[in-house]
Amino acid sequence: MSNPTTIANDGKSARPFVFINAAMSADGKIATMQRRQTRISGNLDFDRMDELRATSYAIMVGIGTVLSDNPSLTVKSKDRLEKRLSIGLSENPIRIVVDSMARIPQSADIFKKGKGKRIIAVSESAPAEKVRSLSKLADIICIGKKRVDLIKLLSELKNRGINRLMVEGGATLIWGLISNGLVDEVYTFVGNIIIGGKTAPTLVDGEGYASDFCKLTLISCEVLEEGVLIKWKVQSSKV
Ligand SMILES: NC(=O)c1ccc[n+]([C@@H]2O[C@H](COP(=O)([O-])OP(=O)(O)OC[C@H]3O[C@@H](n4cnc5c(N)ncnc54)[C@H](OP(=O)(O)O)[C@@H]3O)[C@@H](O)[C@H]2O)c1
Repeated sequence: MSNPTTIANDGKSARPFVFINAAMSADGKIATMQRRQTRISGNLDFDRMDELRATSYAIMVGIGTVLSDNPSLTVKSKDRLEKRLSIGLSENPIRIVVDSMARIPQSADIFKKGKGKRIIAVSESAPAEKVRSLSKLADIICIGKKRVDLIKLLSELKNRGINRLMVEGGATLIWGLISNGLVDEVYTFVGNIIIGGKTAPTLVDGEGYASDFCKLTLISCEVLEEGVLIKWKVQSSKV
């Protein structure tokens, strides 16, 4: 595992193709009011998500998702794992956590389950001791003063050969990416439940837009089991 590195660049270079994939309830919630993961989609959607994972260079989540759901973010299908290996890729895409203060527990499933590289993106404000310990489990990218600078992070990921990045959530990271013009496409499975609750996370939280909303173009919409899979292209991204 490599030592922590501090990246200094102007953030203007190219970034990977970035797409968001998430499941939400009919009322737009991605988890319960206790921020607990709940089953929104069925087996077909899980399989579709697994294929997306298997065909991505890397998967990114925010630290909020790791602390709430403890996902492993591994490719589940044996066939897909073998296919990745057969073309010289690691079993799993690189798993990336955006975690300004290095809060991720060392016992997180991302570290315990599945083979492949992990990257933790931290800020310069992260406690040095925590970063040192994490560097035994993952590559560390230190980027941004108090918070991870997403524009520079994506530029650095591109420099490291990551051309296609899947973002699985959660609501705050998605806002950070969308509001910085860093997303190309958004895929949402809308399931047949209503979760409700004004504090339950929606697909995009953060501060929100007062005007100049992020506009999308519909790519496709299809019925999948008991819900609908909607694919959108983001009309304009800044970078
Ligand atoms: N249904 C689905 O498909 C799905 C998928 C994933 C997650 N979820 C749900 O989403 C919820 C988690 O969402 P969340 O909003 O609490 O957490 P999140 O988006 O996973 O992570 C947010 C955290 O990322 C860190 N971060 C660092 N730099 C950032 C930046 N520049 N912009 C934005 N965030 C940055 C921040 O913490 P620091 O400042 O400490 O770094 C921030 O609080 C959970 O309830 C989970 O179940 C649902």
